[in-house]
Amino acid sequence: MMTAAVILPPDTAREVIDPHAYAEWNGLLDTFDRLRIESPVAKVVPEDGELFDPFWLVTRHEDVMRVSKDNATFLNNPRPVVFSLRSAIEFSRKATGSNMLVDSLVVFDAPIHPKYRRLTQDWFMPRNLARMEEEIRGIAQRTVDRLVGAGPEADFCKLVSAPYPLHVVMQILGVPEGDEPRMLMLTQQMFGGQDADLSGSGMENMSPEQVIQLVAGAVRNFEDYFAGIAADRRANPTDDVASVIANATVDGEPLPDRDMAGYYIIVATAGHDTTSASTAGAMMALAHDPEQWARVRADRSLLPGIVEEAIRWTTPVQHFMRTAAEDVELGGQQIRKGDWLMINYVAANHDPAQFENPRKFDAARSPNRHLAFGAGAHQCLGLHLARMEMKILFETLLDRIETIELAGEPKRATSTFVGGLKTLPVRFRAA
Ligand code: HEM
Repeated sequence: MMTAAVILPPDTAREVIDPHAYAEWNGLLDTFDRLRIESPVAKVVPEDGELFDPFWLVTRHEDVMRVSKDNATFLNNPRPVVFSLRSAIEFSRKATGSNMLVDSLVVFDAPIHPKYRRLTQDWFMPRNLARMEEEIRGIAQRTVDRLVGAGPEADFCKLVSAPYPLHVVMQILGVPEGDEPRMLMLTQQMFGGQDADLSGSGMENMSPEQVIQLVAGAVRNFEDYFAGIAADRRANPTDDVASVIANATVDGEPLPDRDMAGYYIIVATAGHDTTSASTAGAMMALAHDPEQWARVRADRSLLPGIVEEAIRWTTPVQHFMRTAAEDVELGGQQIRKGDWLMINYVAANHDPAQFENPRKFDAARSPNRHLAFGAGAHQCLGLHLARMEMKILFETLLDRIETIELAGEPKRATSTFVGGLKTLPVRFRAA
């Protein structure tokens, strides 16, 4: 039965878009528990109407799944795919003519989206990725060497979970190691702006306009860089994904420059902070429970369950946004054509209707129908790569580390979009 529109009270509305609430985590999970029962689809209306457009917050697993899979009714375009302030949208419009600074897979809908997605879909399938296994194992080994060398105490985030996925994704994009710091800085400027420790640029003290300028500069910088990579791969194609993108054609035409840059940028940025967060979360869960570490060391068949549960438990990508293409009912609420929706993966992945004792890290959880990779047409393109990276890294760690435990308080990043640990102090004994 449909009820009158439920509008969240101002304190709850503030909390669900407050990056600090995502850093503190448990209080936010309490709020989502309450919302799923009281108002699973509810409107978030800014107190100051100028700041951002109102949107519907969707918290139940069932509803997030439905919105994700119904790509005809719930579109990614034209509203930015992540929660954005109005000033950011206006800036993008002026700078690029689009609501987003970067047009990429996550911005397109059918009919363009499937055409673009098809270009690299096979490259990201397990059969092709298997060719990369030895290379990734080499990166994992060098990463674990550095950890072991720094022992017996170290920050796992700094030495392992942050650099490892970055090296992997840069490898598949053919970016030489010397250019990685530049790539890392640009990504952090694009996504890490809400956290003082991660942005590295004092962005948290800047006005929204200054932040937007900085982000726009980062995007231009990325575009210039990848134009060089694309030119090289056209002249000298290899079997990396950078070559696939550089030489791709859609309807007989090469990709326009802006779309090609967007493709590189989405792979470069989507692929590392996310996997860093799930990797650090897995380590935190294991470091909390030394017996579990010993058990997996003895029985590696437990590893895939640990990897999958870590991805659910951490939910690195905390939300995406959709726009309704038509009037539709959802969770007892009447959504109107053009309305904006936030599908909250953190809330969905802690829904007790889908996951028993959702805050518990349960490596044996089965089934584990989590939504950390999304669902439907936009489901994470890199999900097999992310799982493979984590599996290879933990195999390497299990070989080399006999015991590992927490050596201090882990800290989460302040971010509404991609979140997770930024520090994880561990004490370990090498095998
Ligand atoms: C644990 C790690 C990761 C998580 C949690 C994650 C999560 C997500 C989510 C939630 C989406 C949007 C899904 C939707 O709208 O339904 C997405 C899209 C995407 N991801 Fe990932 N991701 C991870 C790793 C990666 C990696 C390693 C890559 C590639 C190197 C990657 C590339 C992409 C791309 C290209 C898209 C856009 C797909 C599209 O719009 O068609 N991701 N990811």
